[in-house]
Amino acid sequence: MSGIELVVHDLVDKALDDLGLAGGGDLVEKLAFPLPFAVITRILGMPEIDTARLRELTGLLIRLGEPGGDSRSKQDIEAADAEMFELVSDAISRKHRERGDDLLTALIDAEDDGDRLSHDELVAQVAMLYVAGYETTVNLLSGGILALLRNPDQLGLLRATPDLDRNAIEELLRYEPPVHLARRITLHPHRVGGHEIPAGSVVLASLAGANRDEEFWGPDAGQLRLDRENARRHVSFGGGAHYCIGGMLARIQGRIAVGGLVRRFPGLEQAGEVRWNGLLSLRGATHLPVSV
Ligand code: HEM
Repeated sequence: MSGIELVVHDLVDKALDDLGLAGGGDLVEKLAFPLPFAVITRILGMPEIDTARLRELTGLLIRLGEPGGDSRSKQDIEAADAEMFELVSDAISRKHRERGDDLLTALIDAEDDGDRLSHDELVAQVAMLYVAGYETTVNLLSGGILALLRNPDQLGLLRATPDLDRNAIEELLRYEPPVHLARRITLHPHRVGGHEIPAGSVVLASLAGANRDEEFWGPDAGQLRLDRENARRHVSFGGGAHYCIGGMLARIQGRIAVGGLVRRFPGLEQAGEVRWNGLLSLRGATHLPVSV
């Protein structure tokens, strides 16, 4: 087992212990958010930061990715962006003094042909890695578990078949993608599906749509089938030059958390209304009450 798998197992075990002691609770609060947040914080080696404030800020920042703007005022989002910059900038400055065996120290030291990242470039990269590291995986965990609760036959199958864990995560990524849209701007004219797209167009590709395209997946594209043979061919991590760099990390967390949860609690049930974040692109639950 790799070092990161051990860390994830440890964090999942503790979260499940808490859930068990309490008899249940909000799965987003108890597992889906804290797990990826702790993992990316540890990998980056982020110095202590005001987590509650950071979460509020990223909750606003992810609205930047919404197609057609967002109901929140542009000013609110710009203010959140500026505050986030300060927060991460301060953490990096502290890191210069408290170096460690972590990604942040490596990024500070990174040099390419004598070229170093400027402070502002470093802040932008780290903020992106940090937010991409948890705001996506939280949706994989909550959306994946909800999909299983809504498909009890598949939940039962997974519980009885640990060998299915890897494929199950691929199918959950396909069926309930944590990121629904990828964005591109065309540099040249393109022809796609008989349509001409001129140069300079903003293109929103529906990853969720492609993941359920019956022409590719067949007539059962809309069904959750954890043993689907080609499940791994989903496009939930995008494609091409911008393909997600955190896919493997997300898969590890999904496999250990979802497999661990369903096997630890045979009586796992939804225990109240799901609340959604209201987003199109990073669509996900903000509350998922369960009893165990
Ligand atoms: C289930 C979890 C995740 C999903 C569904 C996801 C999905 C995506 C998608 C759709 C893209 C855009 C790809 C494109 O435009 O073609 C992306 C990019 C990216 N992701 Fe993820 N991601 C996840 C987890 C992570 C994690 C854990 C990290 C960090 C450790 C991460 C870091 C990034 C970064 C830095 C990019 C930008 C890559 C680039 O533009 O070159 N992601 N991800």
